[in-house]
Amino acid sequence: MTKLSFPLRNQIIIFSLLLAIGFSCKPQKHQTGLLGNKAMVVSAHPLASEVGKTILLKGGNAVDAAIAVHMALAVVYPQAGNIGGGGFMVIRENDGTVHSLDYREKAPINADKDMYLDAEGNALPEKSQNGHLASGVPGAVDGMVRAYEKFGSLPWEQLINPAIKLAENGFELTEKEADFFSAYASKLKKHSTVDPTHFTSKSFKKGDFLIQKDLARTLTYIRDKGRDGFYSGKVADLLVEEMTRGGGIINHQDLKHYSSKWRTPLRGTYKNYGIITMGPPSGGGIILLQMLGTIEDYKVSNSKDKFVDYLHLKTEMARRIFADRAAYMADSDFYPVPINQLITKDYLLERFKSFNPNKATPSSEIKEGEIDQESEETTHFSIIDPDGNAVSSTTTLNGNMGSKVLVAGAGFILNNEMDDFSIKPGFPNMFGVLGGEANKIEPEKRMLSSMSPTILEKDGELFMVVGTPGGSTIPTSVFQTIINVVEFDMGMQQAVDEPRFHSQWKPDLISYENSFSNKRLFEDLRKKGHILKERGSIGKVDAILIRDNGTLEAGADSRGMDTAAGF
Ligand code: DON
Repeated sequence: MTKLSFPLRNQIIIFSLLLAIGFSCKPQKHQTGLLGNKAMVVSAHPLASEVGKTILLKGGNAVDAAIAVHMALAVVYPQAGNIGGGGFMVIRENDGTVHSLDYREKAPINADKDMYLDAEGNALPEKSQNGHLASGVPGAVDGMVRAYEKFGSLPWEQLINPAIKLAENGFELTEKEADFFSAYASKLKKHSTVDPTHFTSKSFKKGDFLIQKDLARTLTYIRDKGRDGFYSGKVADLLVEEMTRGGGIINHQDLKHYSSKWRTPLRGTYKNYGIITMGPPSGGGIILLQMLGTIEDYKVSNSKDKFVDYLHLKTEMARRIFADRAAYMADSDFYPVPINQLITKDYLLERFKSFNPNKATPSSEIKEGEIDQESEETTHFSIIDPDGNAVSSTTTLNGNMGSKVLVAGAGFILNNEMDDFSIKPGFPNMFGVLGGEANKIEPEKRMLSSMSPTILEKDGELFMVVGTPGGSTIPTSVFQTIINVVEFDMGMQQAVDEPRFHSQWKPDLISYENSFSNKRLFEDLRKKGHILKERGSIGKVDAILIRDNGTLEAGADSRGMDTAAGF
């Protein structure tokens, strides 16, 4: 087992005053985020962030903390945190070495490209989005085990025990959480073969405890047996029995075969910043590099008069780039994704030749570029440890509560990631993104993702750790957060709290968060030919910035319960 050496980073001078503020500072809109001198964890749930911080205080490294946070989120944030789903982890060691781990779900061996079509060839999104057929083979547990084998430094049990405790003893619900779980109870009941009564037997209210005994037992198997605690033995039997009862197709062979993969991270630059992000089977990193590579040649500003030009530019980039996504992005183990061509400057310049600074190009006039070649819920967390190692990790069940199938007796919820495949050429998935041949369903293939866990360097040094949930809005939200900091001089918390806008190729519109309103800006965009649409919040970015004086500033998205914990 190779271990990370994690040599000691130069000790940062102790800013005792800042430290004191850092412990008490609560992120608020447009204020500085939590500050820390040594280490920081930012995740979607305060209990998970606290678990990560405790691991770091015990001397664990960023990967140890990431494993513990991942497992804690599977308990306290079961709408997206998971052991029945998958995700990606981007790692930067303090000496600049980078890694990316792909633990994305795979299509079951018995999956077929037409499995979500009826006899007339009509798409059946209800089947790819809910119930037993919607699940890909889970990758999360294999991913955590693999990350541990390469980098883990504390005993494995210490990383899993906090999650077991939270599941066994329960945790207290806020009003929002109580409402959320009450609202989802009927869906879980409908799609699971055995009524998961701990979720469904009562309407939750603030102050209730959510206790998950079966999940605690499953986590105990994982603690005691590692990979085998999930992919074989009792838990695997329960999963396959659930599939058999519910008409699903994941079998023992799928579980035995599943393997996460270390992949070369995708790298690019923006001015003097280095970008380290996730490559296929995510398209998110490619999209982010395409957007940054294109905008690099323009001067952008968020001043009153110029913001409209920035939004116009961003929208025009996104519609061209998302057309590329539909045509060329997929699992590179199955389809030759032309990554290098898609991100080269020449290609991007050619692609943007039709850009008119005054007028929107209708998406109907846009096709993919010419390549010369043969839910809604996810969760992201960012971690920097006291030695300067960084982890950026996004994990998902796809939609809220995934397939809404809770594996009877094992207590965990299965993903509905199969909907991220193109279930029929040209038929939009739940995020409205289109796909075709490249992303068709094939046995043991990984479905195309937009998740973009990213790490930035500035002049070669660690600068930012960033990522978000949000389906197809992920790369555009990461992009905006980066631009807010590097071009618009915002701090981390402010960059995260700023209103977000999203466009893709189709539908042909700019969506904006309903908390935002600016009549004049909207008029100016309409004058350029854009269609605007209000929607709920976009993404939940959790990020960390290294400030000029070396302190760490957290950006914990105020759109959710996201919380930073640092020291
Ligand atoms: O991999 C993807 O791109 C999607 N399954 C992510 C889903 C997601 O972010 C939903 N959250 N809001």
